[in-house]
Amino acid sequence: MSTITESDVGKADSCAELESRIKSKQARFGVIGLGYVGLPLALTLSDAGFNVTGIDIDTNRVDAIVAGRSYITDVRDEELRKATLEKRFRATTDLSEIRNLDAVSICVPTPLRKTKDPDMSYVISAADAIAKELHPAQLIILESTTYPGTTEELVLPALEARGLKVGADFFLAYSPERVDPGNPDFNTRDIPKVIGGVTPRCAKMAALLYGSAMKTIVPVSSTRVAEMVKLLENTFRSVNIALVNEIALMCAHLKIDVWEVIKGASSKPFGFMPFYPGPGLGGHCIPIDPLYLEWKSKIDGFESRFIGLADKINSGMPRYVVTRAMELLNEHGKAMRGSRIHILGVTYKKDISDSRESPALEVIKILMALGASVTYSDPFVPSLSVEGHNIEAIHPSREVLAACNLAVIITNHTAFDYTEIVRNAPLVFDTRNAAFGMKAKNLIRL
Ligand SMILES: NC(=O)c1ccc[n+]([C@@H]2O[C@H](COP(=O)([O-])OP(=O)(O)OC[C@H]3O[C@@H](n4cnc5c(N)ncnc54)[C@H](O)[C@@H]3O)[C@@H](O)[C@H]2O)c1
Repeated sequence: MSTITESDVGKADSCAELESRIKSKQARFGVIGLGYVGLPLALTLSDAGFNVTGIDIDTNRVDAIVAGRSYITDVRDEELRKATLEKRFRATTDLSEIRNLDAVSICVPTPLRKTKDPDMSYVISAADAIAKELHPAQLIILESTTYPGTTEELVLPALEARGLKVGADFFLAYSPERVDPGNPDFNTRDIPKVIGGVTPRCAKMAALLYGSAMKTIVPVSSTRVAEMVKLLENTFRSVNIALVNEIALMCAHLKIDVWEVIKGASSKPFGFMPFYPGPGLGGHCIPIDPLYLEWKSKIDGFESRFIGLADKINSGMPRYVVTRAMELLNEHGKAMRGSRIHILGVTYKKDISDSRESPALEVIKILMALGASVTYSDPFVPSLSVEGHNIEAIHPSREVLAACNLAVIITNHTAFDYTEIVRNAPLVFDTRNAAFGMKAKNLIRL
């Protein structure tokens, strides 16, 4: 017969206490890092009836929330104002508020260092801030995309350093965010949520919390599996985009229209999924996350091949775009030096305001280094800093388009009038097939 130990009593108490607080929606939820991932997550939990505190070290972001101004395309000002006015959601820069929370999700950045190694400093500082305030029956969920092992190798030791035991006193899980900025068809509530806990109790608590606010929970057996799920998803995209980018280069060489090829292949009702070529990868996920996986597997003695190759092909695309632009100008008797190039779109994908890691930045940088005079239009980005040069966006008016030597479409924003662009610019290089269906002598596609 098994006897009940003191620690079993602790486990049962912590579990029951948190469970009852979540079920009654009395649990106070917090998000550390109010960015593209954290702010929608905070509002989703607040919509589900929880009292939510958002914590961010960026005073500008916290001030914007307090003023009811959203800085995330997918979050409307009214939505934010409603949540703050009804006192369901508040934002603060005070990390000590963690002590008042029952559950905390970590949504801080996971960028790369210049050496392309993971920069874990944000996760470490968030974990340290939680460790200072950690209390019994608290649930911690890491959301940031990261290499397999992070939750148990990095976050867990920081949290247990003060004597509390995971699975007994507090709960720790990993649940990757899958938000697709700018995609109105899917939001945080509707996208299935993968969850892996350090212990079964941890997984149960995280599933209970997120299951109260999100439609579908997908439990997996461990935090490592959950971490790897996200990396498989993003590596899948990176590798397939690299493949289609290489096919695009090949088609240009063979004088075949790659866009027509993709359209033809997409008619196959099974076994094919279209990916599209472009000027290069961008954003905080696809160009970065696979390199986290490559780094981790290399440390553990496994040399991956696809990831590095995909990175090489994708990160070569901005230079390829410039080379093609140079050739087009050359065919019209112009040198790049002194030419006026107008860039259409500088965000990494259409209809969003995020220009982080955008290939437009690299394209503009190379064009400037070659002596071109660069202007740009983007309804979402009023100004841009490239290599210390500040450039203000201008409206792509008839005069602006007519005055350039070459217009390069980098982002296929819906707001652009592609008919007007092709009608007025002397030469258009379309890297996204944004002007699909149009035929004109001055329109050249990737
Ligand atoms: N952007 C996306 O589309 C997306 C999608 C899925 C997953 N992710 C992953 O989610 C994570 C967050 O990405 P994001 O795009 O929301 O980043 P972001 O830069 O928009 O937001 C992160 C926020 O964290 C804050 N922050 C940093 N350190 C902090 C600390 N110690 N305490 C409190 N706040 C802190 C920053 O000020 C910033 O506001 C990353 O790991 C990313 O890879 C992003």
